[in-house]
Amino acid sequence: MIEMKSVSKTFGKKKVLDNLYLTIDKGVYGLLGPNGIGKTTLIRSILGLYDIDDGEIIIDGKIMDSNKKNTGMIGYLPQQFGMFKELTTAEVLEYFSILKGICARDLKKEIVRCLSVVNLQHDRKTLVGALSGGMLRRLGIAQALLGDPKLLIFDEPTAGLDPEERMRFKDIIASISKDRTVIISTHIVQDVDVICNHILIMKSGSNIIQGTKEEIRSFAREKVYRILCGDQDKISGKRYIENIEEDGGTNYYKVLCSDRQKIGTVLSPTVEDGYMSIIKEV
Ligand SMILES: Nc1ncnc2c1ncn2[C@@H]1O[C@H](COP(=O)(O)OP(=O)(O)OP(=O)(O)O)[C@@H](O)[C@H]1O
Ligand SMILES: [Mg+2]
Repeated sequence: MIEMKSVSKTFGKKKVLDNLYLTIDKGVYGLLGPNGIGKTTLIRSILGLYDIDDGEIIIDGKIMDSNKKNTGMIGYLPQQFGMFKELTTAEVLEYFSILKGICARDLKKEIVRCLSVVNLQHDRKTLVGALSGGMLRRLGIAQALLGDPKLLIFDEPTAGLDPEERMRFKDIIASISKDRTVIISTHIVQDVDVICNHILIMKSGSNIIQGTKEEIRSFAREKVYRILCGDQDKISGKRYIENIEEDGGTNYYKVLCSDRQKIGTVLSPTVEDGYMSIIKEV
């Protein structure tokens, strides 16, 4: 579905994407990586919103043309979504439908359909300025779904959402993901753990590690230890403290260790452990 071959993108002197190769097929992909690593740059390059300096991006067999933006065939929720405060939710969707070239005959039906998917069907007449942060994000998802695109890209869709809205987001993704490619960019590993079946870990602008959740977990196999707070200096080899947890009045560190340890207890790794092991090179 998406193929990136030797893609480079520079801002000033900073090479954000550097000879990058990536292949994405059908499924729900979680694009993970630390702040500023280049996730949004990658997404905006796929959308054709940024001209790449080098390489090729092929979508559905067609080489992307830098003069032709891809936003019509791709549903996109930008990292910052929020405008038109004086319009109603239905009016915002009408505006985006026209931009996407949805014909007038289908327009009303399509708006009702997309509002229902995100459970905003009773807020058709609510002004955007009166929506909560979670509702606004859902309106952003509805806008991405207009025209039923087979490729959906959501940039940081769950940032700043409370647990209930995050759960809602996961339900929406589960309901729309069949036969589609969905890319969700985030640095919150727990959010992709449940909904995604493929993980992309952006380690640098030239290296994206791709795998199933099991494959990502296996990067941290036999490296995750629970160690008494205070015992950290007894750890041999490279280490990275991931977390502190309290159990029965005692504090423990969850630590990634490069070597086998004689102290502490080995834990089975989570996707987050695998992610940290890749990013921190432990
Ligand atoms: N339009 C731009 N002009 C100049 N530099 C940019 C521009 N967009 C991004 N950058 C730089 O490129 C790098 C990657 O930024 P990008 O927004 O792609 O990262 P990100 O992985 O999406 O980060 P975050 O998790 O914070 O959203 C950063 O160093 C950023 O400062
Ligand atoms: Mg970003």
